[in-house]
Amino acid sequence: MSEEIIETIGASNGVREMLSNAGYSDKAIQYYLEKPYMGVLSDADQVSEMTGTCGDTMAVYLKVAHGKVTDVMYQVMGCAGAISAAMAAVDLVKGKNIEDARNLEDGDIFRVLQDIPVKKHHCIQLAVKALHLTIDAYQQSQNPKTQDTSFK
Ligand code: FES
Repeated sequence: MSEEIIETIGASNGVREMLSNAGYSDKAIQYYLEKPYMGVLSDADQVSEMTGTCGDTMAVYLKVAHGKVTDVMYQVMGCAGAISAAMAAVDLVKGKNIEDARNLEDGDIFRVLQDIPVKKHHCIQLAVKALHLTIDAYQQSQNPKTQDTSFK
């Protein structure tokens, strides 16, 4: 094994231990370290962004076909809680009908993550709200009649 790989493993073990001591479950840590859905979708049907009261920001890239969520990616400029919550959200909504995806709740993510520090629970809310915002914007773009057309 090269020195570089050994160093990387050592560093990720250090992060793992730190997050575990802070109250993150193994599942949440795995999402944070692997970041399977972190990035952009160049062909997204909708991209929306939300900043939480803590100042962290999430952008959600949504791809939809025939009423189903076919792909989602998050760009997260935030903490480990935010990243793990966003990654869990994708696993929960990918392949679902858009209406079912819109029904995602904080508790669904909490059940997947099993445990994150109490002071990080608002990070789950941010991941859910950002997704809701994106789905709402997508649905509005598909039904222009429901858009606000009043003169301002
Ligand atoms: Fe802001 Fe986690 S501290 S989303």
